[in-house]
Amino acid sequence: MGVNEAKYVLAIDQGSTSTRAVIYDHSGRKVIESTKPLPQISNKNGWVEQNPDTIWSSVLSAIASAMIDARIHPESINSIGITNQRETTVVWDKQTGKPIYNAIGWLSKQTTEISQKLREAGYSELIRKKTGLVLNAYFSATKVRWILDHVAGAQERAEKGELLFGTIDTWLVWKLSDGKYHITDYTNASRTMMYNIHELKWDQELLDILNIPKQMLPTVHASDEIYGTTENYQFYGVSVPIAGIAGDQQAALIGSMGFEPGMVEDTYGDGSFIMMNTGTTPEISRERLLTTIAYGIGGKVVYALEGSIFIAGSALIWLRDQLGLIKSVPESRLAAKRSHDNNDIYVVPAFTGLGAPYWDASTRGAIFGITRGTTDDDIVKATLQSIAYSTKDIIDTMEADTEMQIPLLSADGGASRNSYLMQFQADILGRPVQRTSDEETTAFGAAILTGLATGFWKDLDEVKSIYEAGKIFQPKMDEAERKKLYRGWKNAIQAARYFKP
Ligand code: G3P
Repeated sequence: MGVNEAKYVLAIDQGSTSTRAVIYDHSGRKVIESTKPLPQISNKNGWVEQNPDTIWSSVLSAIASAMIDARIHPESINSIGITNQRETTVVWDKQTGKPIYNAIGWLSKQTTEISQKLREAGYSELIRKKTGLVLNAYFSATKVRWILDHVAGAQERAEKGELLFGTIDTWLVWKLSDGKYHITDYTNASRTMMYNIHELKWDQELLDILNIPKQMLPTVHASDEIYGTTENYQFYGVSVPIAGIAGDQQAALIGSMGFEPGMVEDTYGDGSFIMMNTGTTPEISRERLLTTIAYGIGGKVVYALEGSIFIAGSALIWLRDQLGLIKSVPESRLAAKRSHDNNDIYVVPAFTGLGAPYWDASTRGAIFGITRGTTDDDIVKATLQSIAYSTKDIIDTMEADTEMQIPLLSADGGASRNSYLMQFQADILGRPVQRTSDEETTAFGAAILTGLATGFWKDLDEVKSIYEAGKIFQPKMDEAERKKLYRGWKNAIQAARYFKP
């Protein structure tokens, strides 16, 4: 069967806590999705690791469930696209394909000391200039360094070319192709802190500083290429193109049609990741937002600014599990509707410090403005509002950094299904918020890339024509009220930062 006769594209969405396989047809309809949970190995020091073989078997099992449940034959799959948790690092033996250590997760704190040393040695500015990133343990470079330092003989073996490094996309392509291709895409490379986002190449000066041998790094490709095919019974004995890759937040931007400069997409998950398309020139933020590669499509590399909020949906889980104020996360919407206070309570959920634009790791959470009449529902509403206020902090920063107007915010992810939050978000931003029709745009982003790479969809115009836009929430709050409420938030942040136990 020729590539364009196959009926479906398969997107693998490999995340930190689950792996999903999602199959789409030519009209962009989601035919089926299958999700498999994925364990994390964490300890009290903030280390987060995963077994790379378990990640791979979760992919196989998600694919198998999807194909069996939808009764789709492997030969009907046009191609496989990948989107993945970013930064998470795997190092494996080139000969045997066996990882030499667990995957070190993006959240993991075990390389804080290595980052600190690099900071003390004065490399922050150089790294920022070349990679667009803020020197931090979050990115892959220090994780590779840690593995080479902690596994006996690893440095020497890496220098001899016996070991390979990959982010999760690279690991999955390697597995799907039975060890034939060692590749990544621009978006994932841009999260390693080793990739020069201006020159689009691994940066030798940074590699020298980190003492990481270049031969262990994958070759970097565009996001919409055919990288190779599945080999040797890794996909039911069928040779299917492996084509189209992007890191998950970039894929979410793509999956919500964020193709024009000034378009902004926010995934409201446990935390919240906000991506702004800034066009073909990388913008460097004055407020330490990250500059990153949004995608390479159609021979063009497009950049993004990214801001993240550490605590978003997880604040609702805190309300449910720690405070017991709601029985389920969706109940927060009803609680907010029941609340009749004047929006003068502020919850600052800085459980692990404040991210952009405050960057204050020592701040802790606080609740302000309570009275004798304050109810559970008021606290729940204020917590939902805190997500919207934190989002406005980032959107305002993005506008100031780029001097671009953001006309609309596209919203996806679990908490975007909360209509109260979406309406308040539109009100406090003073501009419309469009919720995507499908909460998960990430897998759709990977589907788009694989479809474009193989000609399943001709071009971006065709992709846009099959996209089903979601509900728009128009701002209803008047300007004076918006200003007053936001001023209250800024005061709450200031007060929370002032308090030191
Ligand atoms: O940068 C981390 C990001 O890619 C998050 O991944 O799977 O936790 O949503 P995930």
